[in-house]
Amino acid sequence: MLTPESQSRRDFLKLSALAGIGGISAASTAEAKPDPAQLTHLTADTIGKMRPRPAGNKPVWDLNTRPIGKVRIGVIGLNRGSAHVKSGSLLPFAEVVAVCDILDDRAQAQAEIVFKNTGKRPAIYSGDENVWEKMVDRDDIDVVYVATPWEWHKPMAVRAMSLGKHAFVEVNCGVTVDECWELVDASEKYQRHCPILENACYGEDELFVLNLVRQGFFGDLKHAECAYIHDQRHSGTYTFLDKQREWRRNYATFMHGNVYPTHGLGTVSQYLGMGRGDAFKYAVSVSSPEFGLSQLREKTKPNRDRSQDQKFVCGDMNTTIIKTELGRTIVVQHDNTSPRPYTRGNMLSGSQATFCGYLNRLAIDEDNKHPILDPKEKRNSHSWTYEGDKLTKFMQANAHPLIKKAGTDAKKVGGHGGMDHLMNYRFLDCIRQGITPDLTVYDAASWSCLMDLSDRSVRDGSLPIAYPDFTRGGWKDLKPLPLVS
Ligand SMILES: NC(=O)c1ccc[n+]([C@@H]2O[C@H](COP(=O)([O-])OP(=O)(O)OC[C@H]3O[C@@H](n4cnc5c(N)ncnc54)[C@H](O)[C@@H]3O)[C@@H](O)[C@H]2O)c1
Repeated sequence: MLTPESQSRRDFLKLSALAGIGGISAASTAEAKPDPAQLTHLTADTIGKMRPRPAGNKPVWDLNTRPIGKVRIGVIGLNRGSAHVKSGSLLPFAEVVAVCDILDDRAQAQAEIVFKNTGKRPAIYSGDENVWEKMVDRDDIDVVYVATPWEWHKPMAVRAMSLGKHAFVEVNCGVTVDECWELVDASEKYQRHCPILENACYGEDELFVLNLVRQGFFGDLKHAECAYIHDQRHSGTYTFLDKQREWRRNYATFMHGNVYPTHGLGTVSQYLGMGRGDAFKYAVSVSSPEFGLSQLREKTKPNRDRSQDQKFVCGDMNTTIIKTELGRTIVVQHDNTSPRPYTRGNMLSGSQATFCGYLNRLAIDEDNKHPILDPKEKRNSHSWTYEGDKLTKFMQANAHPLIKKAGTDAKKVGGHGGMDHLMNYRFLDCIRQGITPDLTVYDAASWSCLMDLSDRSVRDGSLPIAYPDFTRGGWKDLKPLPLVS
């Protein structure tokens, strides 16, 4: 059964074609404010098609760059970006040289924090939506952090890379499959890194699972379940009372699938070696009815807010199933507007063990002879072998090397329990050393594009949608990066 495309969707497809949107646009003049509803959304038969690598471009999956004594950074978007400013101003091998936000008070406040932490004042760029271009033009910046609304990510990252900077981009990196290809092409053209700032990959639990995966503890990997389930109705993210925050809610008026896939998908992709030994093949997606935003609007009665006439088409709970080239399966869920405790799922199933997050549990097969296990221990795979205090001890004893090295410092700095700082420490340290950060532009593109693919599948009555291969076949020979070996 096919669901008919909405009229508005067809209208913006037409508009996109007329406007000829697409291709790398490293703007030399001021960018027009991007309208995500006007971006090119591809049809089911073209969305997964391999695109030839433009002549002269080279892969960046193992790109080495010149080592740098002090990594100079500029941060655009200073709500979420404040976490990156904090890290950058506390790491001895980094320096925040510039901060940028439309809102001057935010920029001033972040500059003050840098001054408090370092005794140096960064340059401030504020006042309008194109002032970031001036910051990116500077010749004393190595890394540009992009932490603005999603529609700005691609233009900001592409321009930064075209001017020789590495672009660290918040989740989601691109809104559409087209935008994701543009990020890959720009990174390969300008030979700059463009990692996704997926902090969930640096959680203590996630790194523990990854550590065990790389030691072969789980045996043959077959299935993973992940999610971003976070009741955000009262957090300000979806508030109807602040015009500045309405951009995120607006996506629910024209996207029907998973609008925030990477927190869950990122970590399990690391476990499964997606893009390095396996690749996403196709996705099918289904969404529940929408109640959350409509009821929140009704409850908060946003007088004079233009959202009063908006229709929210994005179902509250989206469930997507991905099939991989090696035949493995991944369930990805999203729900940000239901009364339910937070979870990223974090479940991994292999032939020798199964880990389940929130609350953490580990089942170990009777025949698992891994050397980290006590050979005398009696096990029964019908029940969780380790949970509670027993599992906590086991997790501490088998913590990931990165947690052992920098986990305590990261917790002191904080930011989502320390994972923000751990990620920034690791990414900036890679740039300092001139090596490839753990998450690459191929991860950024393949995790972010599920937003577009799931939307397509939901509108097409849950038809399977072919997954684009941003590595252009490279996944077959690539090995996991050293951090996780
Ligand atoms: N990884 C995480 O844990 C996490 C947490 C929160 C948000 N995020 C991501 O961070 C990004 C920002 O989210 P947020 O919640 O901070 O949004 P927000 O709307 O609260 O803040 C965005 C900031 O960007 C500024 N801005 C917007 N357009 C700009 C432009 N053209 N030039 C300069 N500044 C501009 C705004 O003034 C605002 O201060 C999103 O991609 C979001 O998904 C990630």
